[in-house]
Amino acid sequence: MTKIIDGKLISKQIKDELKEKVSALKAAGTEICLAVIQVGNDPASSVYVGNKKKACEYIGIRSESYELAEETTEEELLSLIDRLNNDDKVNGILVQLPVPKHIDEDKIIKAISPKKDVDGFHPMSVGALSIGQPGFVSCTPAGVIELIKRSDISIEGKECVVIGRSNIVGKPMSMLLLRENGTVTVCHSRTKNIKDICKRADILVVAIGKPKMIDASYVKEGATVIDVGIHRDENNKLCGDVDYESVYPVAGAITPVPGGVGPMTIAMLMNNCVESVKLQ
Ligand code: GUN
Repeated sequence: MTKIIDGKLISKQIKDELKEKVSALKAAGTEICLAVIQVGNDPASSVYVGNKKKACEYIGIRSESYELAEETTEEELLSLIDRLNNDDKVNGILVQLPVPKHIDEDKIIKAISPKKDVDGFHPMSVGALSIGQPGFVSCTPAGVIELIKRSDISIEGKECVVIGRSNIVGKPMSMLLLRENGTVTVCHSRTKNIKDICKRADILVVAIGKPKMIDASYVKEGATVIDVGIHRDENNKLCGDVDYESVYPVAGAITPVPGGVGPMTIAMLMNNCVESVKLQ
């Protein structure tokens, strides 16, 4: 029987655990605050930001919201980040991406103090992860590790294949699987014989951004398949990078879309906010 990895349920469990931790911290006199910055009003970003603020409320984290106009200059945004970096009451700073084109995204990411970088995007956070030092880890790949662990699937010694090499998912994903003692291969758009490599995987993490690209012919019998993609198909139905109907009968465990990796990203952001107290 193929196990369906329920990200909605697991993310709820994590949020409930965090709620208790936050409540204990509050009783000891520590309040946690996340500053959320959105520049412009991209509708998808507004939905993500709204969900992040809702999760804060659920867990008991105070959120400070900065909704800035599309025309905000890079200088103005940098000045706000600087003020929040130096505000002892603010534990985490999140700038929702993408920012408008006239603002240099890399510059913004680098401006956030690594001690408040709850997204885990700062080069210091990425570097710390790659050399096994404490720091914030990018939320989506951290969520994938939690999904695997909480489904009692071991990573140690396993053949792990990651498809995709983005800075936010693929690269940190490979580092995390390595940290868990997996044997890791990263595939990308220039990889030759991608199907043969995928077929070796005990754990296959797919983050390519192409709807339903991975069908059963890429998957070894009994493999764990984690789908990071989210798209609308030809019938306007949500789907992932994995062709679920095709892969489900072959896989040992699989994440659905929606309700798999998606809800984990916010749960891990909340976890980073709680962890920020330790790093500060
Ligand atoms: N835009 C899409 N995903 C993310 C994310 O995880 N963090 C931020 N800051 N922006 C995003």
